[in-house]
Amino acid sequence: MKTDPFNDDELRLPGASGRRDFLRQLAWAAAGVVVGGGIRLGAEAGGRDEEVALKIGVVGGGRMGSALGKLWVKAGHSVLFTSRTPAKLAEMVYDLGPRATAGVPSDAAELCEVIFLALPYTAIPEVARAMAPQLRGKLILDASNPTLRQKVALLEQEGIAGVAKATARAFPDAHYVRGFNAVDASAVTESAAGKTRRLGVPLAGESGPALEIAKRRVWAPGCEPVVTGDLLTSEPFEVGGEAYRINVGAAQLRQVLAEAT
Ligand SMILES: NC(=O)c1ccc[n+]([C@@H]2O[C@H](COP(=O)([O-])OP(=O)(O)OC[C@H]3O[C@@H](n4cnc5c(N)ncnc54)[C@H](OP(=O)(O)O)[C@@H]3O)[C@@H](O)[C@H]2O)c1
Repeated sequence: MKTDPFNDDELRLPGASGRRDFLRQLAWAAAGVVVGGGIRLGAEAGGRDEEVALKIGVVGGGRMGSALGKLWVKAGHSVLFTSRTPAKLAEMVYDLGPRATAGVPSDAAELCEVIFLALPYTAIPEVARAMAPQLRGKLILDASNPTLRQKVALLEQEGIAGVAKATARAFPDAHYVRGFNAVDASAVTESAAGKTRRLGVPLAGESGPALEIAKRRVWAPGCEPVVTGDLLTSEPFEVGGEAYRINVGAAQLRQVLAEAT
């Protein structure tokens, strides 16, 4: 039996509104209805028992974006990969089959309920502005990292003690969750393929429905989410932190995080 998102009160996203209401989209998705002329969802999920297929926009279909996006396609979600030149992604989406499509970032904002960001950090303000009109109530899962130098400048400029909290300001209408920034794309792929110990992946966000959806519904197969807490708790797994890109199992990751705080 399929999970009904409407019966899961803790997964309600409070900011979603109007015709693009997040939960309505999830329900449509479960029913296999085409939303806004977009991607058909649900029917392709192949009758999986426990999960509802989502429409995930992978903004930045480079190394990290394509690694995660491919896993989400395999897991039954519909994935729209983006590039400033979507034709570059044509071969990849063709190989992935009908659940994969390509577009520009604003397409992902318009058509998807979850947006995964894997961009050069300097591209975020521009991409956030382009997507802003369509982001209300949606989940942003962000893996984009500043360099150490950019981090110092950002924190000075924003007057905030954490990269995640400062970056979230670019997405005021969305639910911002930090995740997958602190693991290598190759480590995620190998873990998903069962070639290594199950990878622990740190995750931070304000507690609530968006964090739960990130943790339970968007999660990459073969990885284990390790939630540190609210956005300010991401610092140990931000660039320069003890848990940044160490690519270890969940138990070891928890230990490193505990020692770092
Ligand atoms: N690679 C990893 O293992 C890994 C792991 C954890 C986190 N990350 C983080 O993920 C981010 C991406 O890394 P990557 O290795 O995947 O880089 P990448 O292979 O160079 O991919 C970058 C992607 O960003 C897109 N992009 C660049 N500038 C853009 C702009 N102004 N507007 C819209 N899209 C733009 C590129 O698309 P087009 O150029 O085609 O438009 C491309 O799809 C970085 O912040 C990195 O720190 C990477």
